[in-house]
Amino acid sequence: MSTAAMEFRSFTPSIGPGLASGADARGNYWKQTVQEGRDHPFKQIVGNSASLESVLDQVEQVASTDSTVLIEGETGTGKELIAHAIHNASQRCRRAFIKLNCAAIPLDLLESELFGHEKGAFTGAIARKIGRFEIADKGTLFLDEVSDIPAALQPKLLRVLQEQEFERLGSGHTHQVDVRLVAATNRDLAKMIARSQFRSDLYYRLNVFPIVLPPLRDRREDIPALVTHFVKMFNRRMGKQVDSIPPETMAAFQWHSWPGNIRELQNLVERAVILSQDSVLPNPLPKKRMGPFILSVDRPQAFQSWRTLENSDRGLIVETLERVGWVVGGPRGAAAKLGLKRTTLLAKMRRLGISRPIPQQEADMGGMMPEGIKPEMAASHGFNGF
Ligand SMILES: Nc1ncnc2c1ncn2[C@@H]1O[C@H](COP(=O)(O)OP(=O)(O)OP(=O)(O)O)[C@@H](O)[C@H]1O
Ligand SMILES: [Mg+2]
Repeated sequence: MSTAAMEFRSFTPSIGPGLASGADARGNYWKQTVQEGRDHPFKQIVGNSASLESVLDQVEQVASTDSTVLIEGETGTGKELIAHAIHNASQRCRRAFIKLNCAAIPLDLLESELFGHEKGAFTGAIARKIGRFEIADKGTLFLDEVSDIPAALQPKLLRVLQEQEFERLGSGHTHQVDVRLVAATNRDLAKMIARSQFRSDLYYRLNVFPIVLPPLRDRREDIPALVTHFVKMFNRRMGKQVDSIPPETMAAFQWHSWPGNIRELQNLVERAVILSQDSVLPNPLPKKRMGPFILSVDRPQAFQSWRTLENSDRGLIVETLERVGWVVGGPRGAAAKLGLKRTTLLAKMRRLGISRPIPQQEADMGGMMPEGIKPEMAASHGFNGF
């Protein structure tokens, strides 16, 4: 059966705005065709909840300007997808979209990544390097995890945002650039300012147009469309023909709390498609976990403990690490499961203060790691796949 002709037998949810055609009440045609459109900016964004609609409205409003956008939201809510949409909907869409994950680059290399360096600027600078600001000239620079920009670099970033000018490391020559900045964070920058970890002037410069992405648990009406979308995607990728989603599987998806948001949903659908037999999508969620989540529907306050971004990140990371026996890297490690680079996950763990609990045997011996070995490094000496 071709994917296009595929019909979901026992559960046929509306698959978002993608299958509708024509304009909506407000004459907005773009969003009506989100899955069909080949060239428009929102083609990969699935869902038609009011909160996602509001986000897409904001994207439309800001895209055509050159203003800086700050995208906030928990891990896996689609910040990078929205950053792409802003670029694709802007007049810069035919120019470069350059991404830099500030958490994934060692702090001492970040400055040269952003601004470039001249040959001999520092030990090891054997050739001239062009920085991301220069590469992104006339296009868009997406600074992911912008909260990880070290304090010493923040004034330089502020300057280039205000003046659109900078110098490569080791050079006195000032370069002018025309770069639109989109930044993303899953941390509360206002709190970081209160703790003097982030400069308020840079925050106000970044926060010209904030877009807050709602967590998936607050837009559950998008879940059927997302599940269907990902089933089709993995059918295509794996050459499978899953065409039936039993109501109990969809119910399990609907009531899970999704601390890892859409990325977690995507990974679970992938697992379910792999496990599927007879074209039926099994429920990949552990049965025992459904009870509390179903209960929490009646008691929405049960979600409150996950409410802060940091808590939900921490919860998801620790849960994933525990599931994989604290293996961080490699195909079976937590980084792969979370869809993150190993270095990004390590940076997040450091930032959130997550380290492997001391094994009982070591705790009995006084809980000491060998000197000079951090808990996460210790893992590489034996029981962890770093
Ligand atoms: N509305 C959506 N429709 C379809 N796919 C989505 C949607 N939102 C997110 N995704 C998918 O979910 C995954 C995670 O999205 P993305 O990487 O943009 O999240 P993020 O907020 O940047 O996460 P992190 O903070 O961990 O970097 C991606 O594969 C993305 O394509
Ligand atoms: Mg991201």
